[in-house]
Amino acid sequence: MNPTPRRLGSSSVSVGPLGLGCWPLAGMTRAGVTREAAVATVRAAFEAGITHLDTAYCYGERGEADRAIGAALGWTSEAPAGRVPRDAVVIAGKCGIHWEPDASKDPPRRQVVDGRPERLRAEVDESLARLGTDHFDLLYLHCPDPAVPIEESAGALKRLVDAGKTRAVGLSNAGVDLMARFAAVCPLSACQLHFNMLQREIEETALPWCRERGIAMVVYWPLMKGLLAGRMRRGQVFPTSDSRHKYPLFNGPEFERNLDFVDALRPVAARLGVPLADLVLAWTAEQPGITSVLFGATSPEQVRENARARACDLDEAARESIRAAIAARGPVPRTRAV
Ligand SMILES: NC(=O)c1ccc[n+]([C@@H]2O[C@H](COP(=O)([O-])OP(=O)(O)OC[C@H]3O[C@@H](n4cnc5c(N)ncnc54)[C@H](OP(=O)(O)O)[C@@H]3O)[C@@H](O)[C@H]2O)c1
Repeated sequence: MNPTPRRLGSSSVSVGPLGLGCWPLAGMTRAGVTREAAVATVRAAFEAGITHLDTAYCYGERGEADRAIGAALGWTSEAPAGRVPRDAVVIAGKCGIHWEPDASKDPPRRQVVDGRPERLRAEVDESLARLGTDHFDLLYLHCPDPAVPIEESAGALKRLVDAGKTRAVGLSNAGVDLMARFAAVCPLSACQLHFNMLQREIEETALPWCRERGIAMVVYWPLMKGLLAGRMRRGQVFPTSDSRHKYPLFNGPEFERNLDFVDALRPVAARLGVPLADLVLAWTAEQPGITSVLFGATSPEQVRENARARACDLDEAARESIRAAIAARGPVPRTRAV
């Protein structure tokens, strides 16, 4: 994997090819991740040289991901291994989605998209306080709000740059029409969308659009929510406390086909002498136009394993085997994050 830091658009912010995504640390992928595990996982990432940390206002009902980062870096409490200087990490945050109680759901909460400027400003201030810092390096609008013209949300983010609350701005979960309207109001340094070996929709329009304009493409779900790390079992049933239970990708025949795909990748990883997750992350990072790959993790062990993907280089035989396995798997059902 090419380890060279890459600049986010025309901003002053640079990131490495891998970043730690902090959604699972907040117990949002599956329940039961402790605060201790979350803090240790962030610290392990920093110590392994993964300094691009991706969080959001809604990562945890009470901002658990922001809080874990602040604690792990020694910004909000005494970290066992000392305080990390502010400029040693890139903190990417997001605003525009929050949780509200909803007794009809299990767990009893629902995501609310709210892109009104006053709401965005308030979320940013709260997130920064949880983190124990005064600015983000990169701040995304988490998702366009269909009830608010995107120019209004973009204007709010532009004013947050002017106020020194972030060094650069990104947009997540938007198509190219909205990206263009956003960029006309606020300089856009990065877009964030999902991408992995089996979910490659961004290659149709979003990725070429960003490449043509020099806008960074940061991708999530590289491990397909853990499936491509190769440790899920046939017949595995996800409890309702595990958000994967609701996706067709983790149920019935689609799940079995995905596990067949994973089995087809195993000999490729074995021949290169790397764990499956490293093969998958190395492939993802080398796809043209991909700037940084955000993997989620729930333990220091997962982080250390995934961080070693930076030392993994694919050869042509590996690329060809992966191409064949993707073709044999065929299309997967389309999924949206929000
Ligand atoms: N902008 C958006 O709307 C958006 C949406 C989704 C995600 N994101 C960002 O992108 C990040 C990545 O996405 P993601 O976390 O959902 O998916 P992911 O990176 O594809 O998968 C993460 C999951 O994979 C499992 N895992 C990771 N490393 C492993 C290893 N070495 N061995 C075995 N299992 C391993 C963990 O599962 P267990 O939990 O079972 O341990 C972890 O929760 C997020 O954390 C978040 O920061 C952004």
